[in-house]
Amino acid sequence: MDTRTLSRLAVLASAALLVAGTGCTAETVQGRPGASGLRDAYFPKAGNGGYQVEHYGLDLGYDPADGVLRGRAVITARAEQGLSSFNLDFSGLKVERVAVQGAGARFNRTGTELTVRPADDLAAGEVFRTEVVYSGRPKPHKDPDGSTEGWIRLDGGAVAVGEPVGSMTWFPGNHHPSDKAAYDVVLIVPKGYEAVSNGRLRSRTDTGDGRTAFAWHSPEPVASYLVTAAVGTFRVTEGRTPSGVPLYSAVAPGEEAQSAPALGRLAEMTEWGAARFGPYPFSAGGAIVLPAGSLEYALETQTRPVFPGAPTEDLVLHELAHQWFGNSVSPASWKDMWLNEGFATYAEWLWAEDHGGPTAEQRFDAFLAGDTAVDPAADSDWDAFAPASPPGPEDISGNPVYHRGAMVLHRIRQEAGDAAFSALLRGWAAERRHGNASTADFTAYAEKQTGLDLRQVWDVWLYGKDSPR
Ligand code: TRP
Ligand code: ZN
Repeated sequence: MDTRTLSRLAVLASAALLVAGTGCTAETVQGRPGASGLRDAYFPKAGNGGYQVEHYGLDLGYDPADGVLRGRAVITARAEQGLSSFNLDFSGLKVERVAVQGAGARFNRTGTELTVRPADDLAAGEVFRTEVVYSGRPKPHKDPDGSTEGWIRLDGGAVAVGEPVGSMTWFPGNHHPSDKAAYDVVLIVPKGYEAVSNGRLRSRTDTGDGRTAFAWHSPEPVASYLVTAAVGTFRVTEGRTPSGVPLYSAVAPGEEAQSAPALGRLAEMTEWGAARFGPYPFSAGGAIVLPAGSLEYALETQTRPVFPGAPTEDLVLHELAHQWFGNSVSPASWKDMWLNEGFATYAEWLWAEDHGGPTAEQRFDAFLAGDTAVDPAADSDWDAFAPASPPGPEDISGNPVYHRGAMVLHRIRQEAGDAAFSALLRGWAAERRHGNASTADFTAYAEKQTGLDLRQVWDVWLYGKDSPR
């Protein structure tokens, strides 16, 4: 039993004692407000305290013609303390109704915080359902680094991409990666449109009123920034990897031919990833390719990454690698981004090494020498800051997080040797599968697993920023 389960049991036991000891029934439990944020160093208001979500059920109607979203979110969560009120992160859209355990609840919103006050306080350990009905035209969110995220209206459709805090623009939730949950997303769109989300397509139903309902199911835990929805006139192709993972890819018309070379290798890449990193962590795969220029970036949305136009082979590989590193093993906080990006970048190095490109050693040396013939990013500002501590929230996707992050992994490989390093990558993916991890969790695990004292690697490469060129 892990410590998380143990602490949950302790919470349950103390709730039972509280009820038994006072002779009270659950209805007269005295709760207190849950925290309005999880004090993430970079996004302090992201997430909320006092509960953990188990499941999100999102029913969403969207009309590309007017851009209006009508939503109903049913959030099943477990209270981790007695709660008189609790918060959801939700920005912009109009909240029409909130109910907790079927009873109307009072609510009010300040900025991105929706505070819900249930009719009856919730007991520690109690599993409770919150229903939020809402509507409006979602407003995209501007990142500290200037990029756009959230629900984004496109020509003839829309896409939702949530890293790091954009998901609060289209559904209420506990929007921090430390609280992962299962999802069922139903997207209802006018006939003629496709609507794509994460996981498996359970059903595609004609609603009888000129619309189609697409029901998507994600049984494995998902961090809310990795939930997506894409509406458009996509061309859908389905397939299967050699080991049987079903693939569902949706490609914008006009992008098919250019997407084919890279997407055509997705099944092979997934098998390669399983050999390198251990079993593919999810029960579905695929891709969403938007019309070229729809977004400034790609995102590793769970099971089905989003690409802003036809992707290159490296980009498909990068987003696929995130399924192990970032999506299954998720960061404990936004400071730990190099655990996502350093690993996904190193996966690109490994793929090249295994397929006739430069070796990771050559790539590492090219960064030290600034040799852009081997990697165009070799002379970038990869040594601007320490990957384990980006200076601010605008830096969590900065070059050092990706490239110096990959160099940290290569330094471990140089110390440990190829066999032990490969075992470390597989071991890490297995150890934290479907969970979360911090940088300190990784450094401790790497030293335990390899039996090496890696302090010099951490000090110089991970927590330092100088380039030992
Ligand atoms: N995670 C994305 C990738 O590696 C990049 C990205 C998009 C990102 N949006 C972000 C990184 C916001 C940090 C924050 O392909
Ligand atoms: Zn990435």
